[in-house]
Amino acid sequence: RLMKVFLTRRIPQEGMKILSATGVCEVSQWDSDEPAPRAELLKGVQGAHGLLCMLSDKIDAEVLDAAGPNLKVISTFSVGYDHLAMDEIKKRGIRVGYTPDVLTDATAELAVALLLSTARRLPEGVEEVKNGGWSSWKPLWLCGHGLSDSTVGIIGLGRIGMAIAQRLKPFGVKRVLYSGRTAKPYAAEVNGEFVPLDTLLSDSDFIVVSCSLTPQTQGLCDKAFFSKMKKSAIFVNISRGAVVNQEDLYEALKNGQIAAAGLDVTTPEPLPTNHPLLTLKNCVVIPHLGSATYSTRGVMSALAAQNLVNGLQGADMPSELTV
Ligand code: GLV
Ligand code: GLV
Repeated sequence: RLMKVFLTRRIPQEGMKILSATGVCEVSQWDSDEPAPRAELLKGVQGAHGLLCMLSDKIDAEVLDAAGPNLKVISTFSVGYDHLAMDEIKKRGIRVGYTPDVLTDATAELAVALLLSTARRLPEGVEEVKNGGWSSWKPLWLCGHGLSDSTVGIIGLGRIGMAIAQRLKPFGVKRVLYSGRTAKPYAAEVNGEFVPLDTLLSDSDFIVVSCSLTPQTQGLCDKAFFSKMKKSAIFVNISRGAVVNQEDLYEALKNGQIAAAGLDVTTPEPLPTNHPLLTLKNCVVIPHLGSATYSTRGVMSALAAQNLVNGLQGADMPSELTV
């Protein structure tokens, strides 16, 4: 008998091929590039054995109850899993697949792009060219901060944090600091120095947040955090919006407490177009593009599908989440 699978979104063909080729599942899908409305999600999961979801789908007790006792596997098209109520999921004995590793390079590359764009004020420059603000070459115009001889602080030196540090090193970065729960032996590869958060904040010229969102990191970047940073420092967040208190970030940017911020993630997503952060020239906001390369999204699609299929068959998943 075919197992019922619900897909909450249109995904790259690589994953669809796997779902159909294996002959294990009967797929129903919210066949759109936009998220399924909550009611459609609750309807779609009914009786499903497997669920393939996105980071924008909140999978909580309500969804699990709507799915019912058939549900055996949840496969998320993401490395982050803060949208999954893991306690509820584990209580029900449901297995979870996710997509680590395959998006590390793309996400680190995006982090570097965002850091450089923010530090060197590229979006402001582009805007000035378009609006006629480019009157001549000027020694004091649109100056920013460079990486050469700088100190970079990484909050959360995991796979992605390491890949960011590796990419920044060739720019002539002098020191790489990191903080988190524990020192990482592999940090030696980037000469990473494990320091208390306060030291990281006071000594870094660039701070990159690449930790996962947990109760411990929620709201970590708040008024006290920004007040300990250098006035010339650049703040970059590529993890999850909720790690940042956005009101406090707004104040810090507005009052010149820090130089600039580059955000790939916000609360909420999408950020409303009238949000105060968007009125600031020294805040660069992009729409959660970390893993957005054609090839990475294709590989994520295949991995998410294979996790689902293997899980449904009771086999090992290529990437099972065990927390
Ligand atoms: C992206 O943010 C992901 O978790 O995959
Ligand atoms: C975070 O998701 C990491 O892989 O470092």
